[in-house]
Amino acid sequence: MVTLADPCRKGPVRPPITSLDSGGGAEREHDMGPVVITGGFGRVGSLVRPALLTAHRLRVVDRVTGDTLPGEESLVADLAVPGVAEQALAGASGVIHLAGDPRPHATWEEVHRANVGLTRRVLDAAAEQGVPRVVLASTVHAMGEYNRPRHRPVDPAWEPRPCCAYGLSKVIVESLGRLHAELTGASVVGLRLGSTGYALDEARYLGMWLSERDAGPLMLAALTAGPGWSVHFGMSANTRRHWDLSSARKLGYEPRDDSEPYAATAGPPTAVICRIFDGEDNPRA
Ligand SMILES: NC(=O)c1ccc[n+]([C@@H]2O[C@H](COP(=O)([O-])OP(=O)(O)OC[C@H]3O[C@@H](n4cnc5c(N)ncnc54)[C@H](O)[C@@H]3O)[C@@H](O)[C@H]2O)c1
Repeated sequence: MVTLADPCRKGPVRPPITSLDSGGGAEREHDMGPVVITGGFGRVGSLVRPALLTAHRLRVVDRVTGDTLPGEESLVADLAVPGVAEQALAGASGVIHLAGDPRPHATWEEVHRANVGLTRRVLDAAAEQGVPRVVLASTVHAMGEYNRPRHRPVDPAWEPRPCCAYGLSKVIVESLGRLHAELTGASVVGLRLGSTGYALDEARYLGMWLSERDAGPLMLAALTAGPGWSVHFGMSANTRRHWDLSSARKLGYEPRDDSEPYAATAGPPTAVICRIFDGEDNPRA
């Protein structure tokens, strides 16, 4: 079998990955096995699970405990421990990989371990277990250096330009995802999420807000993508959005919310996050 651990090894891809074209739809996928959601008890996972449950059984995998919903099983374990990812992904029809370090101010060592290292483990397990669909949580920080007035709107097909170690770690996550798709034939979708699950109290986030109501349907749409790699921005239909959503819409994502009603109460920036707002409203710029 070909995995990221040994990309040059010659060998057949396991059969389940080649079954992607069978045109099953949600009901068939439901019968096939649960969708695994790593980090599913975290901020984003907790927001999207109810929507995902409308079409899939879920296996929530997290190193912290949480309450399960009807249609869910859970595995409380650290995916960084050898063998855990293989156990977590056994029999899965897909995996949404959210577990990681989401902090834009984290150090390179922290995000390398939590994002790059963990994603590699999860993708190797997905290859070994023959999981046909993978959705990877990326971030606008992978393209953060384009977050300047002269670059708007930002096209997801442009060359990545991370604004921080966190964004760089997600660029590598995306590259790992693309390689995984090429090696295995799986469907692999990278979602460059905007701000999700935080209070919209600063105006600089109005353009990149992803509402609770839109986040679940975005993940559901990503689980329907055909074989191969693709990467998309994931925001709501914000009036002030400058991230191009057209490729996400082609997946079937139809955002319903707009951050504009929050504009009257959203205030000035309170802290430097990283370089993403430089040249705009960063007090350090
Ligand atoms: N929330 C946002 O606004 C946002 C924006 C862009 C991208 N993202 C990405 O979405 C993903 C989820 O973000 P979040 O805000 O929900 O973060 P979070 O910290 O709230 O949730 C992450 C979850 O992953 C779990 N986890 C981490 N390492 C693990 C491990 N080794 N084994 C098992 N579980 C582990 C944590 O326990 C936690 O429950 C991250 O990859 C993040 O980079 C989030």
